[in-house]
Amino acid sequence: MAKEPVRVLVTGAAGQIGYSLVPMIARGVMLGTDQPVILHLLDIPPAAEALNGVKMELVDAAFPLLKGVVATTDAVEACTGVNIAIMVGGFPRKEGMERKDVMSKNVSIYKSQASALEKHAAANCKVLVVANPANTNALILKEFAPSIPEKNITCLTRLDHNRALGQISERLSVQVCDVKNVIIWGNHSSTQYPDVSHATVKTLSGEKPVCELVADDAWLKGEFITTVQQRGAAIIKARKLSSALSAASSACDHIRDWVLGTPEGTWVSMGVYSDGSYNVPAGLIYSFPVTCCNGEWTIVKGLSIDEYSRKKLDVTAEELTEEKALAYSCLS
Ligand code: NAD
Ligand code: LMR
Repeated sequence: MAKEPVRVLVTGAAGQIGYSLVPMIARGVMLGTDQPVILHLLDIPPAAEALNGVKMELVDAAFPLLKGVVATTDAVEACTGVNIAIMVGGFPRKEGMERKDVMSKNVSIYKSQASALEKHAAANCKVLVVANPANTNALILKEFAPSIPEKNITCLTRLDHNRALGQISERLSVQVCDVKNVIIWGNHSSTQYPDVSHATVKTLSGEKPVCELVADDAWLKGEFITTVQQRGAAIIKARKLSSALSAASSACDHIRDWVLGTPEGTWVSMGVYSDGSYNVPAGLIYSFPVTCCNGEWTIVKGLSIDEYSRKKLDVTAEELTEEKALAYSCLS
């Protein structure tokens, strides 16, 4: 029997990530090739015409799984009945703007969209925040949508996770699908800690630790980390635009694994509400290694953290604590 369509909201749908993301969802990349979808696309009035163009292209592409498109500039209409919400819309930093100015714009957007989701989304709606500052936008959304379970509100660090896999695969000349269990700890920013202490590579003679195969501590603690931390800036420099296809693809990976589960013995990185695991302050949205089963994520417990890693986990937690305080100061 055919499955019921799942309603997927994409905010900022007329933007560049939106333009890469919506055809992936309509093709089944996010929820499976047997899962019909109805897309809800939200943008702001100045982008209404472009948004309508995206809708026209979705119709023209004749995706068999796409059962409907709601394209609107009304947040209530966009949020009504959605099962999954991908929050890509936001206010970008413009020349001359201070960090606080960007934070203040985004905090008010996420505060009002939190209310629309809380009142109108389907029960148990899963939320992924992509727009920067992703962790703190997700935290604000959580604060202003108290009836959405905190386990349902996450932010995207899967792009950083995938970037780390890509760097290891290039360095070792191995298939990216044979590398697993890297970890992104903390903020989706340049303080994030890409950690390969527990990562492995599948070889003909079994799984081998990445650290053993790379055998170059200076590279692992130096260039590898900074390349992943600064990859977003490197893409902006090269494209004059921020990453879009990789962000869209990683957003699909995040939701797919969350809904359909992570493979046995594999974890992924997700920005989730901290419960104090690994002595990360509770009450932050922080990227942890997680496994997913039956639509629920669980933080991987008991990994050893050496002194070097401890410091890096703390630095990115401190940045998130500061961002949280800044966000709250914008609300008062
Ligand atoms: P973009 O500027 O091309 O698109 C953003 C869209 O959001 C625009 O169409 C804009 O009109 C819309 N928008 C603005 N305010 C809105 C609101 N209140 N409601 C609905 N829509 C609104 O930007 P992009 O390249 O698509 O990137 C989107 C966001 O994702 C940015 O914040 C970017 O920094 C972030 N990003 C995050 C990651 C990550 O890994 N977490 C990766 C790449 C980009
Ligand atoms: C990215 O990681 O590509 C985005 O968050 C863009 C940025 O500002 O780094």
